Amino acid sequence: MPTAEKTTRSTGAAAAREQVLNMLKEDHKRAKKAFKDFEKLDAEKQPDECKELVEQTCGELQVHTTLEEEIFYPAVRQALKEQDLLDEAEVEHNSAKQLIEQLQTMQQGGQMDGKFAATFTVLGEYVKHHIKEEEGELFEQCEKAGNKVDWAALGEQMAARKAELMEELLPQQTAPLTAGQDEA
Ligand SMILES: [Fe+2]
Ligand SMILES: [Fe+2]
Repeated sequence: MPTAEKTTRSTGAAAAREQVLNMLKEDHKRAKKAFKDFEKLDAEKQPDECKELVEQTCGELQVHTTLEEEIFYPAVRQALKEQDLLDEAEVEHNSAKQLIEQLQTMQQGGQMDGKFAATFTVLGEYVKHHIKEEEGELFEQCEKAGNKVDWAALGEQMAARKAELMEELLPQQTAPLTAGQDEA
């Protein structure tokens, strides 16, 4: 039955596409929560909590942006009509990366002052704007792209690369947590 077969195939593709987009949306959700949590902290009174949150969030953002740039954006670029969405996304990533680098330099130099908090706050504004465009426009275009993308293969490739990137950029998180492992 060609019709039934076609329906099954497109349902499978739709589910695979949802999985890919959800993987990215989960990261977006975590990032938005981190910036909200940061608002509740006082950089001067809680420097350790701030440092930890900033470090973690910057690492996660690096994993996410690298994954999109290396795999997701190129895969959807060939299937989308509106290329400018992806061009803008890449420019926005670059701005975020510059702020992340500044934060990392400040942290290494022990500069945990108001400027540090302001930089992270501005990064949050950039990231929230970017997420809004990505989910509101780019992901919507992806839904229209249908079978021009092999969503199942893309999902597998992204999951594998994400695991690698996490190990590389968030080693403290992927290392097994054993009691008494703190530096002696
Ligand atoms: Fe994203
Ligand atoms: Fe992005």
